Amino acid sequence: ARVAVLISGGGSNMAALIRAAQDPAYPAEIALVLSNNAEAGGLEKARAAGVPTLVIDHRPFGKDRQAHEAAIHLALTDHGIEVVALAGYMRLLTPWLVGRWSGRMLNIHPSLLPKYPGLHTHARALEAGDPEAGCTVHLVIDEVDAGEILGQARVPVLDGDTPETLAARVLEQEHRLYPAVLADFVRTLPA
Ligand code: GRF
Repeated sequence: ARVAVLISGGGSNMAALIRAAQDPAYPAEIALVLSNNAEAGGLEKARAAGVPTLVIDHRPFGKDRQAHEAAIHLALTDHGIEVVALAGYMRLLTPWLVGRWSGRMLNIHPSLLPKYPGLHTHARALEAGDPEAGCTVHLVIDEVDAGEILGQARVPVLDGDTPETLAARVLEQEHRLYPAVLADFVRTLPA
């Protein structure tokens, strides 16, 4: 399956997906990395790995989110993309784009959903005194950080954890979880 990864930042999850897909036995190809931000560090990593990249900046579109998404959608279809993996893509998507990729768009979120949708997940888990934290890969629906859960990974919260130390422990698991869940997911797609 041809997969596009959408990023806005450092792209460590994107890099983990690219690395996994370099194995000839991996059932998906990372065929495009698309960013809304030309400064995203992940773009350089993708280029270094020989993966095609594209920047579609949201700013020229102003308030017209759907026009920005239409440009993204066109790029995805132009590249023959079958599955979209959001990986630190920091723009909220409208029902327009979500609807076009219904059942074929995944996201990774740094909490054990349904706990802590949205931002600052690690600070919230610490604040609540949770004994464990983790990450979730889920299908994208209109509601933010909701949608069918495809996989989760858990880590312990340790004494003295800060949001940063906990984030680093969770991120390591994100890099294992996302490639594994994406592989399982594409194997279930109709040929
Ligand atoms: C990850 O924690 C991911 O779960 C969240 O944003 C972060 C992106 O990190 N959605 P990276 O760009 O993949 O390094």
